Amino acid sequence: MGKNIKGFAIGDEVFGDISACGFGGFAEYVAVPESALVLKPSGVSFETAAAVPMASVTALQALRNKGNIQPGQKVLICGAGGGVGTFAVQLAKHFGAEVTAVCGEKNVDLIQSLGADHVINYTKDDFSKCSKCYDLVIVVNGNRSLSAYRGVLAPRGINVLVGGAFLQLIKTLLFGAFMSIGSKKMRVLMAKPNIKDLEFIIKLVEDGKVRPVIDRRYPLHETAEAVRYLSGGHARGKVVIEVVRGTI
Ligand SMILES: NC(=O)c1ccc[n+]([C@@H]2O[C@H](COP(=O)([O-])OP(=O)(O)OC[C@H]3O[C@@H](n4cnc5c(N)ncnc54)[C@H](OP(=O)(O)O)[C@@H]3O)[C@@H](O)[C@H]2O)c1
Repeated sequence: MGKNIKGFAIGDEVFGDISACGFGGFAEYVAVPESALVLKPSGVSFETAAAVPMASVTALQALRNKGNIQPGQKVLICGAGGGVGTFAVQLAKHFGAEVTAVCGEKNVDLIQSLGADHVINYTKDDFSKCSKCYDLVIVVNGNRSLSAYRGVLAPRGINVLVGGAFLQLIKTLLFGAFMSIGSKKMRVLMAKPNIKDLEFIIKLVEDGKVRPVIDRRYPLHETAEAVRYLSGGHARGKVVIEVVRGTI
């Protein structure tokens, strides 16, 4: 620990999102500034803490910062089965929304267990053909036309694009402002690591109100395989790397 570090003591258990300070988390040791770290509550395992940072903060910033989520609103989450989506469902419920989640067949039970009020299985039903309108649409897996998402927005509704096809991102950046003329808004999220957001979420985790869904665990030497699996685009929640197997 550097001599100027004020917020931590040697032996503290910490976690964080180190993507803004050089990455390097797939390792036994990494040097990071203290501003990237949060104390890990003793009741939360390292495995759980490791599965929290980027996905949950992205979901939080999409719902709250870009989406201005309010209690009682109808919220649609497209791509609910992955890391960001599983947090988005739980956080939207925490904020008091009525949540409809879109996911594949194998994730329907999981998403219901996370508290979604309605689940649309995209292999059977098309959310854009439902007559329902939403105050907030969070697009985690943007693979449909922008008008499909805009079409299910209620007047004054907000669409937040979080991820998905690269073309979708470009289209929203180029045409989002144009499509936001009128009361419906089409926005793009660029999430940023944020200690206060992380502290907010880890408290919810500690209190048992939110939980990371962990699909698979890989030992450190199989990290490439873990990334390959994640790149397939159908991970169920998060994938965790165990630095020393059985110790977290
Ligand atoms: N904007 C930002 O700042 C920011 C920050 C972090 C991540 N991201 C982006 O956000 C996206 C999601 O990240 P992630 O970590 O959640 O990814 P992920 O864990 O790979 O999740 C992708 C999920 O999308 C679902 N999916 C695939 N096809 C679908 C479809 N046609 N309809 C509905 N769901 C579908 C999959 O569930 P099924 O198996 O059920 O299909 C899968 O669980 C990525 O594109 C990532 O790059 C953006």
